[in-house]
Amino acid sequence: MGAVLFCSNLDDPEEWRPPMTKLMPDLELRVFPNFGNADEIDVAMVWRPPAEGLGQFKNLKAILSLGAGVDQLDLSKLPAGVPVARLVDDVLTTAMAEYCLLAALRYHRRVDLYERNSRLKKWEYHIPRPAAQRTVGILGLGVLGGATAEKLKMNGFKVVGWSRSPKQIAGVESFSGADGIYTMAAKAEIVINLLPLTPDTRGILNKKLFDAMQPGSYLVNVGRGGHLTEEDLIPALDSGKLAGATLDVFQKEPLAQEHPFWGRPDILVTPHCASTGGADTAAPQVVENIRRARAGKPLMNQVDRAKGY
Ligand SMILES: NC(=O)c1ccc[n+]([C@@H]2O[C@H](COP(=O)([O-])OP(=O)(O)OC[C@H]3O[C@@H](n4cnc5c(N)ncnc54)[C@H](OP(=O)(O)O)[C@@H]3O)[C@@H](O)[C@H]2O)c1
Repeated sequence: MGAVLFCSNLDDPEEWRPPMTKLMPDLELRVFPNFGNADEIDVAMVWRPPAEGLGQFKNLKAILSLGAGVDQLDLSKLPAGVPVARLVDDVLTTAMAEYCLLAALRYHRRVDLYERNSRLKKWEYHIPRPAAQRTVGILGLGVLGGATAEKLKMNGFKVVGWSRSPKQIAGVESFSGADGIYTMAAKAEIVINLLPLTPDTRGILNKKLFDAMQPGSYLVNVGRGGHLTEEDLIPALDSGKLAGATLDVFQKEPLAQEHPFWGRPDILVTPHCASTGGADTAAPQVVENIRRARAGKPLMNQVDRAKGY
């Protein structure tokens, strides 16, 4: 039996070892760079692969991302033909839907304005609108976008969405295709990005999209920093095209001290905390994927390397 390589600058292997060993008592988990004989490694659990790549592991049967996304892996540089899987974790999914609901409610109930006004000692009343009169648009209707759509619907919002393939989701008006994103954006007052970062989606939160949105709309970016064309955001806010933005992810993290997004009353910066999974809840699918890889079976949550997600 082979050994599993653990390679991450973010995750602690000692958090993963106990729940994985409980499910697979003969697990041999080797932490990079102390992996011993490279030929014995048959599965790699990685956040980012080592600088020298994974090509030295000639007997690799699976690459398991330690994140829900795989953009950090640079799929084009991974050994060809080795299946790649990502994490899908109920805890992470619930946390993401919760964060997006919070961001939507904050704008819907004008809490962003009251935060500013309370600093100015300003009493300014706005009649609350019912959520049923507020449309939230979701870019990406996959695991996280789908769960977020459900959470928003349950809280009374009208929900529209956009994805690569057409979707039939009860109560969610869904769009696809190159122009569908603009049709969707024109209907929504709050747009939440939950796309994966691929060559097709890089920079997609840009002036063209903001121009398609209703004046005074809000943007929530919880996908990846690379989705936002950063230089288009401040002009959109300054012109009133956008009324506010909640940003959890950035092109460079942590966000640099001198970055213009800090300190603006119309931008809420959060430190890539929208959601995170845990070793305890994710260990069963990782162990299952190790078993599947060794048995030559398709992986759970396998990534389509051609599509990039
Ligand atoms: N901020 C955080 O803390 C945090 C945490 C976890 C994840 N994330 C981010 O969230 C992303 C989404 O995760 P997920 O699990 O929901 O992914 P997923 O299940 O793969 O869903 C992706 C969705 O995006 C759509 N899509 C992909 N490329 C598209 C394109 N070119 N045009 C239109 N739609 C496109 C897909 O369409 P189809 O349904 O047609 O395939 C799908 O609906 C991750 O990749 C990661 O970057 C952020």
